[in-house]
Amino acid sequence: MKKVAIVGSQWGDEGKGKVVNYFSSDYEWIVRFSGGANAGHTIYYKGKKYVNHLLPSIDPGSNSKGFLGAGMVIDLEQLIKELKILENDFPGISSRFYIDMEAFLVLPWHKEEDELIESMRREPIGTTKRGIGPAYTDKVSREGIKLYHIFHEETLKQRLDDIYYLKNNIHNGKIKTNAEETYSYLIKLRKELDELKVNFASAVSMRDVFRSTSVLFEGAQGVLLDLDFGTYPFVTSGSCMAHGVSSVGFSTFELDEVYGVLKAYTTRVGEGPFPTELKDEDGEKIRNLGNEFGATTGRPRRTGWLDLPAMRYAKIRSGLTKIVITKADVLNGFDKVKICTAYDVEGKIKETPETSLDFVLAKPVYEELRGWKDTNDINFLKYLTFIEEKTGIKIEYISYGPKTEEMCTVNDMIMKIK
Ligand code: IMP
Repeated sequence: MKKVAIVGSQWGDEGKGKVVNYFSSDYEWIVRFSGGANAGHTIYYKGKKYVNHLLPSIDPGSNSKGFLGAGMVIDLEQLIKELKILENDFPGISSRFYIDMEAFLVLPWHKEEDELIESMRREPIGTTKRGIGPAYTDKVSREGIKLYHIFHEETLKQRLDDIYYLKNNIHNGKIKTNAEETYSYLIKLRKELDELKVNFASAVSMRDVFRSTSVLFEGAQGVLLDLDFGTYPFVTSGSCMAHGVSSVGFSTFELDEVYGVLKAYTTRVGEGPFPTELKDEDGEKIRNLGNEFGATTGRPRRTGWLDLPAMRYAKIRSGLTKIVITKADVLNGFDKVKICTAYDVEGKIKETPETSLDFVLAKPVYEELRGWKDTNDINFLKYLTFIEEKTGIKIEYISYGPKTEEMCTVNDMIMKIK
């Protein structure tokens, strides 16, 4: 039974939601294994747009089920909002979602801390202010609340008292919420989740279920935002790589494929190095044509040409086996397109950055290719072949529009070449 992971190859926003949704009807389970409501996965179903931040991108029209794994940091209030939107159009859909009881919760003080700490940084990261960094920080420093805590009221009360005591000491009383409020808030959310009939689960008891069926793992953000291997410190705080499946009890050896989703150009939202960034008319044109505005925060995304050294880095770091290229249509009509093939790092030419510091020091080396009218134009196929040759990784699918059905295999596309 097939096990496939889909991860972002760049700085997120590659269109993973749409790609996962395209495949989802062929899989029994869609599993999110990291990140939180900082992600924004847009899917279209029967012409209607849905933006999920936490829910796995299951196909509402199929019987697929969604699992939210222990590597995630979950804002229950946001989760309920998403479920209610789906429930309106697909009554009963909430019972197709399962949450690992070991998952961490994003709580009101995390969002307060995200604001506070960002405002105190001399060089802000440009976070989504969804409390992600503080929640993962609490997990590591052992101050957090796991989902199972909300089922043990005494323990929950005690933990909240202890955590607020500590937080108020750290932040000199600047935290506005308090333990009692947060306790009532969590009990209320638990009741709402019960009413929606969401399932509370464990990757331990799901072990055999997952192994006996098909599973699609849906990554969040992109390899270059990964806490360990991304462009540190301008990264998110979770795992953005296929290795994150370990938080659902899987080894990457159990995966049949790891698809790296690659946008035909590059974008980044928030601060941090971006070697191929365009600050000119071309950059503006790509932003407008590609509607490059954050799905979570609405911020304009920074735009630039495709960066192959970054792609080679992502391939190695995340063990990518195939590429799905997205937003191929956005570059339609450009006379020429540039593509970065190497970095000049302090006078040394590198085809693949060795550390995330190389991204800071890199001056991009470009080649120029002829543009294409549409994705059935031979020049587009040349662009794809160029990417494959320069990265040593095969492009298997192309997405050429926001709708789920606007996607095909490269072979299908070749048949249509004029
Ligand atoms: P945080 O994850 O909110 O802490 O933000 C850290 C960095 O990751 C910021 O630069 C964000 O803009 C970026 N980021 C987080 N989630 C996403 C995403 O889903 N897409 C693109 N960038 C993201």
